Amino acid sequence: LKAKMIVDKSFKISEVDPRIYGSFIEHLGRAVYGGIYEASHPAADSKGFRTDVKQLIQELNVPIIRYPGGNFVSGYNWEDGVGPVKERPKRLDLAWRTVEPNEVGTNEFAQWAREIGSEVMMAVNLGTRGVDAARNLLEYCNHPGGSYWSDLRRSHGYEQPHRIKTWCLGNEMDGPWQIGQKTPQEYGRLAYETGKAMRLVDPDIELVSCGSSSTGMPTFPEWEAVTLDHTYEVADYVSLHQYYGNRDNDSANFLARSMDMEHFIRTVTATCDYVKAKKRSKKTMYLSFDEWNVWYHSNDADTKIEPWSIGPPQLEDIYNFEDALLVGSMLITMLRHADRVKMACMAQLVNVIAPIMTENGGRAWKQTIFYPYLHASRYGRGTSLQPIVHSPKYDAQDYTDVPYLDSAVVYREAEEEITIFAVNRHLQEAMDLECDIRGFENYRMVEHIVLEHEDLKAVNTAAEERVKPHHGGNAECKDGFVNARLSKASWNVITLR
Ligand code: AHR
Repeated sequence: LKAKMIVDKSFKISEVDPRIYGSFIEHLGRAVYGGIYEASHPAADSKGFRTDVKQLIQELNVPIIRYPGGNFVSGYNWEDGVGPVKERPKRLDLAWRTVEPNEVGTNEFAQWAREIGSEVMMAVNLGTRGVDAARNLLEYCNHPGGSYWSDLRRSHGYEQPHRIKTWCLGNEMDGPWQIGQKTPQEYGRLAYETGKAMRLVDPDIELVSCGSSSTGMPTFPEWEAVTLDHTYEVADYVSLHQYYGNRDNDSANFLARSMDMEHFIRTVTATCDYVKAKKRSKKTMYLSFDEWNVWYHSNDADTKIEPWSIGPPQLEDIYNFEDALLVGSMLITMLRHADRVKMACMAQLVNVIAPIMTENGGRAWKQTIFYPYLHASRYGRGTSLQPIVHSPKYDAQDYTDVPYLDSAVVYREAEEEITIFAVNRHLQEAMDLECDIRGFENYRMVEHIVLEHEDLKAVNTAAEERVKPHHGGNAECKDGFVNARLSKASWNVITLR
């Protein structure tokens, strides 16, 4: 199996917006209670947040974190989560059929995010609520003082405004599962009016209009065409959400699923540009891929959870090695569309379909998918270059012409470094890759990181990390050519300087 690539400085796609390495914390399962927050844990800080979890998030260097949902936000009264904790009500969360104790709310989360160096991407409730609750929350968070809601924040002990820049106008409003689901016309009007009022409170915010919940939605992409017709001038981004699974245990097909993501990005981009043309607008709409991951392992277990408990183990997918490969390909796909995808959130961050897991009272540990996310966040900041790829291809159940080589390249001009991200999708054969980098004179190998495993189904646990990267890849650089043998089914990160 042989593949070739040509990489050159002039083949620029775009600067990578680091916010594509964002993530997501929802009030769901053990993400908040027992995840980032566990007051009784030996590693908890004075406010009850786990410092061991904080450290792992900081290792990932997550620039932005979406909050507080997700489906949860569509039934959330944000006022329940501010003020003295003892006075906060316990509420039924209808999205996940649990009890929300409201011990953590907007202020605690904003402060926690600040401490770990992440921005907040705040979602407003457009399910059961609307313009009024959204503009009040924004005033509470961002207005300096001298008004009812901003002074209330100050009275709650947060003198300085949180200055939250990025706001989602609702969540998955196209989904029948969503509390307060809307037709595209209903959503478009409500989102526009909400965004308009929010901009009057704070003109510096950025707004995300809700796109489709997946490419499988019957209303995709008509939803985007109709809603953006309303929200185009008020919004800066449209959201995309997508999860994949390997329910049929067809790994060749599973590893090709990033081609669906590619098709999703292309279609939403085209739809945005259609609305732009129709409106004779000068503004370009950008994409916020604010929920993406593998999600299917926990589906059956979730049907057995007793309702109305606090912080039950919901959506606790235990990821295997092949999941990490697809996550790598999804990151590669977004890098190749860095000109339009400006934000993205791996959904989610802790315990709930997450790269980081915790034991209540015990350890925090890394799932297999932690690693491609870490590598992309660490080496994938700079300019995304378009590699010219010649790769043999295969046909899978749902996709034809799937290249065995999936790759993206990031150039860090200031450091004079390039990183080649490459997945070998072949399940049986190693791939001989030759990469022409003659445009980068005198570059030499820095390292070749590899994530590989004999068993596609290998998982990590709190006790044992079976799937972890090694730095012993065999890439060599000579006379402007990089040659590497990429193991079968592997994720590779090759850096040159
Ligand atoms: O991330 C889990 C759930 O997936 C979110 O709450 C929802 O927005 C999506 O359906």
